[in-house]
Amino acid sequence: MSLKPLPGPTGLGARVIGHLKGWPAAGLLFVTVLLCNALQMLSLVFWPVSRPLVRRINREIANAWWSLCDLWAEHWWKIDIEITGDDGQLDFQWLDEQLARARLLSLTHLSNTMRTVNPVAEICARARAAGVVTVVDAAQSAGHAPVDVQAIDCDFLTFSGHKTCGPTGIGVLYGRRELLEAMPPYQGGGEMILKVGYRESTFNVAPHKFEAGTPNVAGAVGLHAALDYLDAIGREAIFEHDQRLAKRACERLAEIDGIRIFGPAEGRSGVVSFVLPDAHALDLATMADQKGVALRAGHHCNQPLLAKLGVAATARASFYFYNTEAEVDRFIEVLHGVRKIFV
Ligand SMILES: Cc1ncc(COP(=O)(O)O)c(C=O)c1O
Repeated sequence: MSLKPLPGPTGLGARVIGHLKGWPAAGLLFVTVLLCNALQMLSLVFWPVSRPLVRRINREIANAWWSLCDLWAEHWWKIDIEITGDDGQLDFQWLDEQLARARLLSLTHLSNTMRTVNPVAEICARARAAGVVTVVDAAQSAGHAPVDVQAIDCDFLTFSGHKTCGPTGIGVLYGRRELLEAMPPYQGGGEMILKVGYRESTFNVAPHKFEAGTPNVAGAVGLHAALDYLDAIGREAIFEHDQRLAKRACERLAEIDGIRIFGPAEGRSGVVSFVLPDAHALDLATMADQKGVALRAGHHCNQPLLAKLGVAATARASFYFYNTEAEVDRFIEVLHGVRKIFV
């Protein structure tokens, strides 16, 4: 008896990913998996156990995944992007040297620390030319900027619901079908399997084989509604608004003696990360909070980067479509007030 896989592309996932520009044209080659969050998706892609199984399935793909798993085990930190100075610019020569000996490149689209908007399409093109699999982390960009998967032309892209005004506990992985098909399932449960036997089982096709058990249907419906909401506002409009407020904040912050503002002069997103010479970022954030201004302070899940910049923590203001210029001015006013306590 031959078993037919469930028809693809996936229902909920395809509807959700339909919000990414370029998806319809890529629909046959790419598949969307829905799990809990962005990092769970990245873990699925980086999962080292893929190595022996993928190797048996397809030699060409295996080469990439086999080496990927070697990278995971021994060298994964080496694919951290090299930057020069506080402006967070990527050193392309360094990148090309790394690509020559890598099998997988994972990078963020927008940096949550440096404001950098990485030229992901160009980076992915360089990686492709070097035969390197690309994984774009769009957690910071999916809710803030246009994300055109066709133009970026990566192998995988991921983002999470809660950073797109959607629910927590749901994340999206958009991936090249042939790579996903070559990967083994990593969780067991309903729908990921077609036939179960004592000695041998048949797994479903991607994306179903990765979506084990009862899916987070409520999360997918909520995420879909959130993405509809963002679409109605428009990612271009959101990005332009965020940038305008961040620019205003940067200009006002630059008036403060000794301030270090991180990130490039051009191509920036709507976050402003900074340190003051006379006040710790955590103190700043705590005191600003008491005045009704929400800053985030810490290493922003980027300890290696902050170590490279020689700081333990930065304070960060993040702007979104609901923020106003008056709020930027209030933030600066509060910051000046807080500084008086320390100077
Ligand atoms: C670039 C980036 N990727 C991933 C994450 C984590 O996302 P999730 O909580 O959905 O795993 C974050 C969180 O701030 C992030 O900034």
